[in-house]
Amino acid sequence: MANIFEDESLFGGRRQNTIFKDKKPLDHRFLPDKLVHRDEQIREIAKNWVDALDGVTPSNLTLYGKTGTGKTAASKFAREQLLEAASNENAFIKVEHIRCTDFTTEYQVIAELCNRLGRDVPSRGWTKGEVVNAFRDLFRTNAFGKKLLLIVILDEIDILLDKDGDGILYTLTRTNNVAVLSISNYLDFKNLIKSRVTSSLNDKEIVFPPYGADQLSDILSERAELSFNEDVLDDDVIPLCSAMAAKEEGDARYALDLLKNAGELAFDESAEKVTGEHVRKAKDRIEHNKVSEILSTLPLQQQRVLEAILTLTRQKEEITSGKLYDSYTEISKSDAVTYRRIFDFINELELLGIISTNTISRGRGKGRTNIIKLQCDETLLETALYTI
Ligand SMILES: Nc1ncnc2c1ncn2[C@@H]1O[C@H](COP(=O)(O)OP(=O)(O)OP(=O)(O)O)[C@@H](O)[C@H]1O
Ligand SMILES: [Mg+2]
Repeated sequence: MANIFEDESLFGGRRQNTIFKDKKPLDHRFLPDKLVHRDEQIREIAKNWVDALDGVTPSNLTLYGKTGTGKTAASKFAREQLLEAASNENAFIKVEHIRCTDFTTEYQVIAELCNRLGRDVPSRGWTKGEVVNAFRDLFRTNAFGKKLLLIVILDEIDILLDKDGDGILYTLTRTNNVAVLSISNYLDFKNLIKSRVTSSLNDKEIVFPPYGADQLSDILSERAELSFNEDVLDDDVIPLCSAMAAKEEGDARYALDLLKNAGELAFDESAEKVTGEHVRKAKDRIEHNKVSEILSTLPLQQQRVLEAILTLTRQKEEITSGKLYDSYTEISKSDAVTYRRIFDFINELELLGIISTNTISRGRGKGRTNIIKLQCDETLLETALYTI
């Protein structure tokens, strides 16, 4: 049998793609040569980090901004620039980017830093004190008589703080020659930190505002030039992706996803051009994937609650918790969970953004009622519910 990857009917376009010349620049992890509309933020980071070139530990920084506003990209960009400058000046600087979704405890982060800096530390088994000592030793011993200066980028730090507390910031900010750059989605993330740490963190804050449609348009144009063959994008494709993403809180990642998916849909249809219609279909596809991804992680009982909400929505009923419970027990029959558990489920579904709840007063003496509303497209939910 012929190798499936060489099957012309499946991947005939693999070698000669009519739409894409190179898909890599549309990937989230791609770091472009320049980041338009982020000069100010990058300059601000550089202004703080420039001290490192003179052997002085820079001040700590915190980057804030909603998802897809270029925080990770800007910090990586600044890192590349600093390392390039450092190699010209012969300075001994390391900049380590840590995704706190991958390393979720203080122990894990410090152990990972040790390993990256050439000191083997097991991923478990030592005490926290032992790991921290091993880490601090790195800054004492140096064979070349030069001091190591380390900048740690703690990306998506909220998760770590939430799970393991602020010990990591305490340890890092109390280690000589270490500077921290934290990246957070929440302006109020400082509430997760105790005052003993806030004072030693003593950081400067840099805000990343959401991108407007015009800015997104510039970002997409740069990437499109690298990714698409000449003249395959209809004139309205980039403006449409930008406008849709501007509505989604100025998220550049979403804008890139739209463009990439639109291109893929055009390619799958063997179309010669990517059109606005492809963008609209791409939007549905992305939303569908998001809903199915969330649904597939939900426990069965939770899915049944959603099924009940969908049924009631279809019947144009105002959904109260009581009505929901009735409908849910009908679907679940004998293995239904208690009324109380349903409240937990409702809360969780609301946190996931699939539903919203609104407490209303029925008038004097009649108490208050919770009204539940579906927050995603009905058809989308239905397909997702019945295809998993
Ligand atoms: N100014 C820009 N110029 C070019 N590309 C950009 C720019 N800003 C963001 N991007 C691209 O958009 C995508 C998302 O950006 P990034 O990952 O930096 O967002 P983020 O702020 O870190 O989001 P999150 O909070 O979700 O982690 C990346 O692929 C990045 O390369
Ligand atoms: Mg990021």
